Amino acid sequence: MRKSKLKSLQNNFSILTLDDDPIMTSTLQAFFQRSGYHVDVEHEPYRAIERIRQGQYDILLLDFLMTPICGDQVVAEIRKFNKELFIILLTGHKSVAPPIKTIRELDIQGYYEKSDRFDQLELLVESCVKSILQMRTIQNYQNGLSSIIDSLPQIYHLQSLEHIMDSILGTAVSLLGVGSGALEIDFSAFETQNSAISGPVPMTRTTGQADTPPALRELLAQNAFEASGIIHRDSWVMCAIQNAQGEIAGLLSAAMPAPPKEDQVQLLQVFSRQITAALNNVFLHSVVSRKNEELTQAYSKLRDSYMEIINALRLLVDARDIYTCGHSDRVSRYCVLIARAMGKDEAYCERLRIAGLFHDIGKVGVPDDILLKKGRLTDEEFEKIRLHSADGARILSAISMFRDIVPIVRAHHERIDGRGYPDGLCGGAIPLEARIIAVADSYDAMTSNRSYRGALTVEAALQQLREGCSTQFDPDVVKAFLSIEDGAVYHLSQ
Ligand SMILES: [Fe+2]
Repeated sequence: MRKSKLKSLQNNFSILTLDDDPIMTSTLQAFFQRSGYHVDVEHEPYRAIERIRQGQYDILLLDFLMTPICGDQVVAEIRKFNKELFIILLTGHKSVAPPIKTIRELDIQGYYEKSDRFDQLELLVESCVKSILQMRTIQNYQNGLSSIIDSLPQIYHLQSLEHIMDSILGTAVSLLGVGSGALEIDFSAFETQNSAISGPVPMTRTTGQADTPPALRELLAQNAFEASGIIHRDSWVMCAIQNAQGEIAGLLSAAMPAPPKEDQVQLLQVFSRQITAALNNVFLHSVVSRKNEELTQAYSKLRDSYMEIINALRLLVDARDIYTCGHSDRVSRYCVLIARAMGKDEAYCERLRIAGLFHDIGKVGVPDDILLKKGRLTDEEFEKIRLHSADGARILSAISMFRDIVPIVRAHHERIDGRGYPDGLCGGAIPLEARIIAVADSYDAMTSNRSYRGALTVEAALQQLREGCSTQFDPDVVKAFLSIEDGAVYHLSQ
């Protein structure tokens, strides 16, 4: 450290000299005051301890041999409440100095044998000053980093841009220990990833009172920013805020009386990187929100299309369903009731509702003279009707949104004993949804009037279901249907 620089710093340090010899204390005071230190004197050990407790001293120069207590005892008392004070012990002769062990234990920075010349003592004091400066720098880093860490939850918390900017600015002025600051950010640089000063007018926040800092545009035009991203101009220190691509997107300014110290520059750099990360976080979140909104809208449109297709197909089914009069609707409702009785979730019930609605859609391919025939069908006509489950599956497979009900529709005339159609599947090989439709379909057919027979009573139809268990129907499905407590459910077709 250059002498002149050290001299200028010495005004910031205060020394207390403690010695029961007034000549010694006044000599030391005169000597160190000439070097620029603030120096107080004290002759009584206990009063010196109190002054240290209450005052703001950086260095204590104290005699070893004193009454009523010696220098090492004074230091022992001070160390109970102050570990930071730098202490130099003065001795008349090294033979009366305390042992090295004591000096170490009491954290005494040095001892000095009194003489007419103070050169050596001055060197010791200067060494203390350097250590104190380093400690202050470390303390500044610690405080600054703590302040940055404390501010992170606020600047990372997703809130309005104004709030985020206020948090950033508040932390910055606190970091630099100043009262005035300004923050200007061009958010388009984060949003569009284009050049830093394109797009909307930058947002600006200020705190305290000071002259307006130089504008970002002006500084960019002058190519004023160096690698550190920090410059000092007039009474302002300014830190560039960059976007994720390293482009300058904003300016953090603080009114400072003097150029920033090295530790302040480094802390500002750390903080500016946090600002960049926080602002990118905000905009990533906004992009995700926007995409979510677009997806929601797209899903809503898809849902509308889905409903339109369902309605169109319903019209088709209804047109072929005049004779059976609402059969598909009722089957759909029975299916949902059975699925609920079996504890199935809403997605399952919805799939079954649609499958029940369109289970007979393949009948559009059956000629009217067969479908609407009054009287019994011939074997050949019946064979044509039997094609409807496979035809229905083929029709629905052309529409991607119905793909999950295709195997259900195909299997709705399969039987547990394997004597159904079109594939002759047995038991668990038949999709459960198809086994549910089989019960609902048969029950509704039995309780509806047909051209070739009248409707069965509810009890007779339920009995048919019971008798068909394990041959035509899945017993668990029949059991679930019979467990429905609301009696009105069984009369939908009447
Ligand atoms: Fe059918």
